[in-house]
Amino acid sequence: MRVIVMWYTSLENSTLQLIQALAKDGFVKSDPNSKRALTNLALAYDEVQGIIRLRKPLELLCDQKILDDMAFNIRPLVSKIDIHASIDSTNTHLMSCLKSETFHGHVCLAESQTSGRGRRGRAWISPFGRNVYMSVGWVLPLGLKPGGLSLTVGVEIVRLLRDMGVSDVSLKWPNDVLRITKGRSGKLAGILIELGAPTAKGTPLIIGVGLNVDLGVEALALIDQPYETLGEFKLSRNALVSGLLTRLLPALNNFSANGFRIQASEWGEVNFYADKEVQIVIGKDVIRGIDRGVDEYGNILIETEAGVKSFNAGEVSLRPI
Ligand code: BTN
Repeated sequence: MRVIVMWYTSLENSTLQLIQALAKDGFVKSDPNSKRALTNLALAYDEVQGIIRLRKPLELLCDQKILDDMAFNIRPLVSKIDIHASIDSTNTHLMSCLKSETFHGHVCLAESQTSGRGRRGRAWISPFGRNVYMSVGWVLPLGLKPGGLSLTVGVEIVRLLRDMGVSDVSLKWPNDVLRITKGRSGKLAGILIELGAPTAKGTPLIIGVGLNVDLGVEALALIDQPYETLGEFKLSRNALVSGLLTRLLPALNNFSANGFRIQASEWGEVNFYADKEVQIVIGKDVIRGIDRGVDEYGNILIETEAGVKSFNAGEVSLRPI
């Protein structure tokens, strides 16, 4: 099947030309409008003898690179790729495409989000051209529950990053991707799965992934929790998107066929808190115990003094001791 590709931009033409020139050549002639545009996009630059250079190279998202790098047998799982220069939220955008023929396998990417959303009503800081903001539309067959899907997605993200040489990544149940450097853990990626109303075709899901590749200084100041990036790895965002799709789409296909199927040993390989003491917070109550992995529904298993108990991701949060 042919993949429909759309490029949307709400940027002014001059700004688009400016960032395209900077992405291609690395420099442009200085002028006040360009400087203003770069400041608005929070892209740090140096100006020397009338020439503007970005402090960090800029790689724009490119549908052709993404498709070329994607494993050949995975491409038929993509119905459409949208790339937005700026959008409120890729998840919100796909919510407005629920009824579209191409919803299943629709990949929405953005260079920046103005109202990026995280779990529990938090904002997802989404500066221009530095990270991955991606949502995938998927229709789950009727009768299949999405429980455990976010764990499946998280496991695939960790596997991809480890394959790409980032060995110090793990998952914090249910789906925070952490990077642990110098004994400190910070959030590297997050997953936001949202559901549409079921139809005769099945339950529409929007699987949103935010991955901090190289946040700028301004963005870092806005984040209210320990964060991490992939800064020193100098990974291509296009290669990261291809890699994510190459892993996530078959995993979604498997989920559609078989439901949640993660072996205890597979979860153990990525679980940051495996066999460590943790606390589970339920409203005002706190339960202490040992993290013993997950059950067949993706619920966390905690060994307490009263035996092993399971907890659902929607009800509780997991904290270190
Ligand atoms: C979390 O809080 O851990 C989930 C963060 C999910 C962020 C991604 S970025 C792409 C997609 N669009 C959004 O508005 N949110 C998700």
